[in-house]
Amino acid sequence: MKIDIFTLFPEWFGWLSQQRHVANVTATGSRIECINFREHTPLSAGQVDDTPFGGGAGMVLRVDVLDSALRARYGVDPVQLGRARRVIALAPGGRLLDERLANELAGEPELTLLCGRYEGFDERIIEHYATDVVSIGRYVLSGGELAAMVLCDAVMRKLPGALGDERSATEESFSAALEGNPEYPHYTRPAEFRGWGVPEVLLSGHHAKIESWRRERSRERAAALIDPPPEP
Ligand code: 6GU
Repeated sequence: MKIDIFTLFPEWFGWLSQQRHVANVTATGSRIECINFREHTPLSAGQVDDTPFGGGAGMVLRVDVLDSALRARYGVDPVQLGRARRVIALAPGGRLLDERLANELAGEPELTLLCGRYEGFDERIIEHYATDVVSIGRYVLSGGELAAMVLCDAVMRKLPGALGDERSATEESFSAALEGNPEYPHYTRPAEFRGWGVPEVLLSGHHAKIESWRRERSRERAAALIDPPPEP
């Protein structure tokens, strides 16, 4: 999978690229590449944003700057780009990122992520260039970069070879294997610590019983969720 991230802060993504599961998939042909809006602005002094028409606080990413950056990267009229690939604008009011969306995106060969800053994007960017608007929750971040990293993490860990043990990705919270429910509790050594034991069944070696214990705990946790996940 190839992910292009358009941002004013490309250096922030160095940290993400070093994370084990990201490094694992980039070793096998996937990659994350950052494009700095500022290097593609047609305006003087590296200007990329401007004050909102109608007044108000903050700065808005300019549509002409976005157009230039996409055009320089892909060599086509970027309005056409959405026919070939998902172009995702990160904004707090977008479609909430969940496991279903992460699975959907993990199936794409190429993604383009657009990170706005401050007050976000000129709306014409959303209307004419983006195929999706994605949010990681109903709160406001100072820009789309952290959200883009969250999205990359959630998506890239699903790619083959990302995790040491492929089972980690198939039987985890919200997976189909767990009927879309949160994961069951885990325990490891020591079997007793400060008088706190672990459930006997997990020490029994009885695989069928362990399996059914885990399914029950997983369902219990689903029932306790305030905000239940959608069906997988
Ligand atoms: Cl995607 N962007 C910003 N700026 N804030 C957010 C967000 C995105 N998701 C939640 N809050």
